[in-house]
Amino acid sequence: MDLVLLQKALFALFFAIVLAITISKLRGKRYKLPPGPIPVPIFGNWLQVGDDLNHRNLADLANKYGDVFLLRMGQRNLVVVSSPELAKDVLHTQGVEFGSRTRNVVFDIFTDKGQDMVFTVYGEHWRKMRRIMTVPFFTNKVVQQYRFGWEAEAASVVEDVKKNPQACTTGIVLRRRLQLMMYNNMYRIMFDRRFESEDDPLFNKLKALNGERSRLAQSFEYNYGDFIPILRPFLRGYLKICEEVKERRLQLFKDFFVDERKKLSSTKGSSNNELKCAMDHILEAQQKGEINEDNVLFIVENINVAAIETTLWSIEWAIADLVNHPKIQKKLREELDTVLGRGCEVTEPDTHKLPYLQAVIKETLRLRMAIPLLVPHMNLHDAKLAGYDIPAESKILVNAWWLANNPAHWKKPEEFRPERFLEEESNVEANGNDFRYLPFGVGRRSCPGIILALPILGIIVGRLVQNFELLPPPGESKIDTTEKGGQFSLHILKHSTIVLKPRT
Ligand code: HEM
Repeated sequence: MDLVLLQKALFALFFAIVLAITISKLRGKRYKLPPGPIPVPIFGNWLQVGDDLNHRNLADLANKYGDVFLLRMGQRNLVVVSSPELAKDVLHTQGVEFGSRTRNVVFDIFTDKGQDMVFTVYGEHWRKMRRIMTVPFFTNKVVQQYRFGWEAEAASVVEDVKKNPQACTTGIVLRRRLQLMMYNNMYRIMFDRRFESEDDPLFNKLKALNGERSRLAQSFEYNYGDFIPILRPFLRGYLKICEEVKERRLQLFKDFFVDERKKLSSTKGSSNNELKCAMDHILEAQQKGEINEDNVLFIVENINVAAIETTLWSIEWAIADLVNHPKIQKKLREELDTVLGRGCEVTEPDTHKLPYLQAVIKETLRLRMAIPLLVPHMNLHDAKLAGYDIPAESKILVNAWWLANNPAHWKKPEEFRPERFLEEESNVEANGNDFRYLPFGVGRRSCPGIILALPILGIIVGRLVQNFELLPPPGESKIDTTEKGGQFSLHILKHSTIVLKPRT
């Protein structure tokens, strides 16, 4: 770094310290803030608590500071909520007040300052986007239109695994094949398209760019520039890479998918409602002037981000836990055999008749919550919570994982025990009917994709267990289920090799 820049940075830092002290004095008078560790100027609590504010570390802090506490991360306020009652207040009772999303320098790039739906603030634009996306994506009609496609994709996974001699000997990393399946499940809905194989060059390009976008957005690397605005100039290189990835990705969506679909529908003049895919509906909204071309691309971007990896992580966790709990796996197989009969492959309507399968999925989503802190919420204006003042534009994290894994509320929560959802928790559903269990959130900003995710999970988990015995690789008794968390996600650290022995 050249000397002039360093001098300027130190000078600015000095002013920022003075400013921060003054502001904190003023703020101290105005607000009754939630408890939390004592912040220092400039850095706040950042140096005390570090970057890795995952669900477990935040649960430890909740034990120390209470169900609502405040961390100052540089210049930003972070409020963490850890009880069902306060989750209800944030997500339901005060759903409007806390219904916005935080912005940061990186998300501003990836969403073009909130042109999308998932990361935009609560207001007119969000309402319009959510309405426009509902008919093409989030209704039972969509499930009934596409469930045959999902069943065919699951059948194709089973067939490919059976053809692979390694699968039943040394084992395979099944995730790779499941990833193709999830892309196909979603690209069928979006564009009526699918990718033939894991080697398809377009699929690989798409996967690489989506992966890069997730890595850049979830990384802790850019926190310093986000928390301490004065340091932002040092993020220039990082933000430039984000810009490039965003441009390349949106261009790919446009050139290979959106424009292709436009061409196709103009040649066939699609009037038959039954054959419409999601993009046809979205393009109609664009033609009517409800949204612009950028919004169309951001809808594609949002589905790529929100739908594919989340569901894939959950499938991966379900398989890992079934491998490590052979008795549960056997019990599930027995249910499938008894209810459906051997050789009768599970379909979407069948999933409703299989309580143990449902319980296995619920238990996976409880113990291995894919988005353990929900997508961060934000209050646009000053607000009140549990008698405390929450300054405007605070980032609000609901520790949904802790709500569902707190021993004060659940019997032996650390155990993978699907039976709990048939016994003491038999009334608890994944749709947020109980504020201890919110794998998809609840209220205005809750996950609209739950209607697709649950049947997709049921079909693939059911078919794998019907067709194979799922085992750890030779010489191992269990597979490694160490967790890895990003800023939003909880996934398995190692994509395990598993053995899939076809049933005779
Ligand atoms: C197992 C799979 C999934 C899980 C665990 C999951 C979980 C979540 C969670 C926790 C949220 C945030 C809720 C909040 O902030 O209060 C969310 C938001 C969202 N999810 Fe999902 N999701 C899954 C699958 C899907 C699928 C398949 C789609 C689309 C097809 C989808 C689309 C969305 C969208 C659009 C939002 C943003 C809603 C908004 O901000 O208004 N998700 N999801």
